[in-house]
Amino acid sequence: MKPTHKILLVDDETGILDTLRILLTGEGYEVATATGGEEACRLLSEAPPDLVLTDIRMPGKTGIDVLRCARAADEALPVVLMTAQASLQTAVRAVNEGAYYYLQKPFSNDEVLAICKRAVEARVLTNENHELKREIKRRDQRSSREPVGRSSSFRRVVELARTVAPTESTVLISGESGTGKEVMARFLHELSERGDRDFFSINCGALPETLLESELFGHVEGSFTGAVKDKDGLLVAAGGGTLFLDEIGETSPATQVKLLRAIQEREVIPVGATRPVSIDVRILAATNRDLEEEVRRGSFRSDLFYRLNVFQIEMPPLRDRKTDIPLLIDHFLRRLGVHGESHPLEVHEDALQVLIEYAWPGNVRELENALERAAIVSLDSSIAVEDLPARIREAPTPRIVCDAAPANPPMEVVERAYIQWVLNAEGGNKTRAADVLGIDPSTLYRKINRYGLAVGAGAGEGKTDG
Ligand SMILES: Nc1ncnc2c1ncn2[C@@H]1O[C@H](COP(=O)(O)OP(=O)(O)OP(=O)(O)O)[C@@H](O)[C@H]1O
Ligand SMILES: [Mg+2]
Repeated sequence: MKPTHKILLVDDETGILDTLRILLTGEGYEVATATGGEEACRLLSEAPPDLVLTDIRMPGKTGIDVLRCARAADEALPVVLMTAQASLQTAVRAVNEGAYYYLQKPFSNDEVLAICKRAVEARVLTNENHELKREIKRRDQRSSREPVGRSSSFRRVVELARTVAPTESTVLISGESGTGKEVMARFLHELSERGDRDFFSINCGALPETLLESELFGHVEGSFTGAVKDKDGLLVAAGGGTLFLDEIGETSPATQVKLLRAIQEREVIPVGATRPVSIDVRILAATNRDLEEEVRRGSFRSDLFYRLNVFQIEMPPLRDRKTDIPLLIDHFLRRLGVHGESHPLEVHEDALQVLIEYAWPGNVRELENALERAAIVSLDSSIAVEDLPARIREAPTPRIVCDAAPANPPMEVVERAYIQWVLNAEGGNKTRAADVLGIDPSTLYRKINRYGLAVGAGAGEGKTDG
């Protein structure tokens, strides 16, 4: 069945409106009429037709105003102007401004029908064209946003993401700072059914509790000083889309209770309100803390943890997927684009070696920043070792077992050597070293004392006796 096309007819002379309506309906068009510019603009903003046929001279808003309303409603909507001799000049100018055509009165039925047919066909073509372009853009965006990495640990993570993305499940993304948790959250969103809707992100660690609650759950007017009018929370505003709760581990116990309720009941009670509002949002959360440990310690609610942790995606640290470093370098250098003129940036072989060997405590973000800086300081179109930040250039070459390791070292010896190596790699920073080792700082302190390890930037081997 042929789809019906809608035409909006605008003229202050009802006689002309009637004649045209009968003519066009007879040809199978769906016709709406307006007797003035104001009414036409209102109809246009409500539901744009496929074609507008309007008189130019009307009291109040003219046909030119209708043309503008149509442009505002839909760039590609064709507008045909009907004009008497007196406003011919205006009509010609209007065509230059984007009107599809003008018909000079008096016109024959055949003329009107021919022009309507042509305009509607053009409209259908542009629509298809736009839809194609949009689809191409969507695909480009999706593939360009695909997280970079082909190492086995990273591929596992991406595969898991592909599996859970189309479900409505909550996903907890964990991982050290800079490993790409937000990148992963956006990737999940784009692969999901909600991918064409909005992605909202909120950093739960960046706002004081009351502000965070009002951002998440909304508030009603007068519920606190400064609440001058009702405001939807993100859980409501992100309706249809995805909400990414970053640094979820930073939320207070009170906020945790409210979040749990929101996830379980699929509704929120805005601050100061009595009635709940229902929500339709996919929730993704991220943390660089060990939430399971926080649950054990009692600082994170276990029930909320289990609600969030339906799936967990753990982003591997960059040092565990060194084969991805060259890929990431290539990706970032492309993004940094051209240097000076039109030469793409390259990396010297020895600089690449240094970049691969470095431990990257700040993960992908640190790599990205280092390259950005190197691109700026590099004098030509290639990045040399000298262009890299000193901490990266001068980091000790990682060797887990030190020079004089016994042939079959007991566990304690390996542990001692490894801790010493991490301490060196982290420039003696105990907090970061504890992070890398995945142990509590207090545990690290005990081990440092026990093994008599040397701490401090560039520290060499630890003392031999412990
Ligand atoms: N796999 C990847 N492919 C491409 N870019 C990446 C990848 N992982 C991370 N990045 C880039 O590294 C930077 C840090 O990523 P992101 O912000 O997602 O990390 P994060 O884990 O959320 O860090 P934080 O814990 O500090 O918030 C971003 O600029 C991001 O574009
Ligand atoms: Mg982040």
